Amino acid sequence: MPSVYIRTFGCQMNVRDSEVIAGLLTNQGLRLTEDEALADILIYNTCSVRKHAEDKVWSELGRHKKKDSRRRVIGVAGCMAQCYKDEIFQRAPCVDFVVGPSDIHKIPEIIEKLSACQPPAAAEGLFERKIWQTNGGIRPEEIYHTGFYEDKNHAYMVVSEGCSNYCSYCVVPYVRGGLKNRKCADIISEIKAALNKGITNVTLLGQNVNAYQNKDTDFIKLLSLVNKIEGLKQFSFITSHPKDTGVDLFQAMAGLEKLKKYLHLPVQSGSDRILELMNRGYTRADYQGLIRAYRNIVSKGVLTTDVIVGFPGETEKDFRQSYDLIKEAQFDSAYIFKYSPRPHTRAEALADDVPTQEKQRRHCLILGLQKEISKKCKNPR
Ligand code: 5AD
Ligand code: SF4
Repeated sequence: MPSVYIRTFGCQMNVRDSEVIAGLLTNQGLRLTEDEALADILIYNTCSVRKHAEDKVWSELGRHKKKDSRRRVIGVAGCMAQCYKDEIFQRAPCVDFVVGPSDIHKIPEIIEKLSACQPPAAAEGLFERKIWQTNGGIRPEEIYHTGFYEDKNHAYMVVSEGCSNYCSYCVVPYVRGGLKNRKCADIISEIKAALNKGITNVTLLGQNVNAYQNKDTDFIKLLSLVNKIEGLKQFSFITSHPKDTGVDLFQAMAGLEKLKKYLHLPVQSGSDRILELMNRGYTRADYQGLIRAYRNIVSKGVLTTDVIVGFPGETEKDFRQSYDLIKEAQFDSAYIFKYSPRPHTRAEALADDVPTQEKQRRHCLILGLQKEISKKCKNPR
């Protein structure tokens, strides 16, 4: 039985996608292994959110020589696959297949084809075959129902795929496409099936989870339906966009007894000028209003955020506004990122004019500040 090793980079969406791939392949008779060195098939499920995430994968791929005597099948899946498509074959000749996030259901068939055409080692090159699939649209619903979850108690449940917000720095809409909502009944039936396997805790997943809408079911209605599922002990959701967040969400959070009082609400910047350039669709004051309402309505609610420093044109004054906002908001934790220009995005056309050292200084300053705040918080993540 051929063995497959899957290495995951990036966010929880990729973690779930790797489970989907694992479920499809094990159903096809392959065996999963944690031992990369002995695996017959290697799949890298990749992330393009920042250059650093991509560099890790390029260097990983660089370790594999094309003429590997073991003739393993090597695949690149996920966001980098979609971002670079068949260009990956030029930069990493060891790679046999490239599959974008909307095509992961095709992986079993691709592996079958590639395994069937494995040439004898001596004939390397003559039979060389490369396969790429990056045209997928909507994923077939069945892929979410293989029953494969890494954890025995907790499962990620995809609520929506992709994102239509087009924040100017973000690659996601280009690699995962626009927002596509799963049917509410399908999500509920996946959760019920997972509960039958012993799962008690789920996280609803979406790049912009609270923009969920399927027919007359919006995100708040979905939360109340999930809360009612018998046997479910606890659930949570990530990631929320401030422009789709309001008092009604906080009231639902306060009232639904199984819902974890945890909100990840990326602010990205505390400067209105930069928020506008980022195309975020809210102001500093809007965000501050949301925090006040959250604290008032959701008692003991945990609040976390993401911040980008060094966005094109970010002045010391803009940066100070982010710093002050972090100080004022007292987040339980915050992820601080240095801006990284991304292919396809609108911000790529702007000069990346904050010098690396200055990005580093701003990163360090906010990180240090948040470290102090997190220490004081009762509920650090
Ligand atoms: N550069 C730096 N950070 C980024 N993020 C997204 N795109 C970029 C980029 N081009 C950050 C945002 C997002 C988190 C997942 O990654 O803060 O919320
Ligand atoms: Fe990375 Fe974004 Fe893709 Fe997740 S969706 S793997 S964070 S690029």
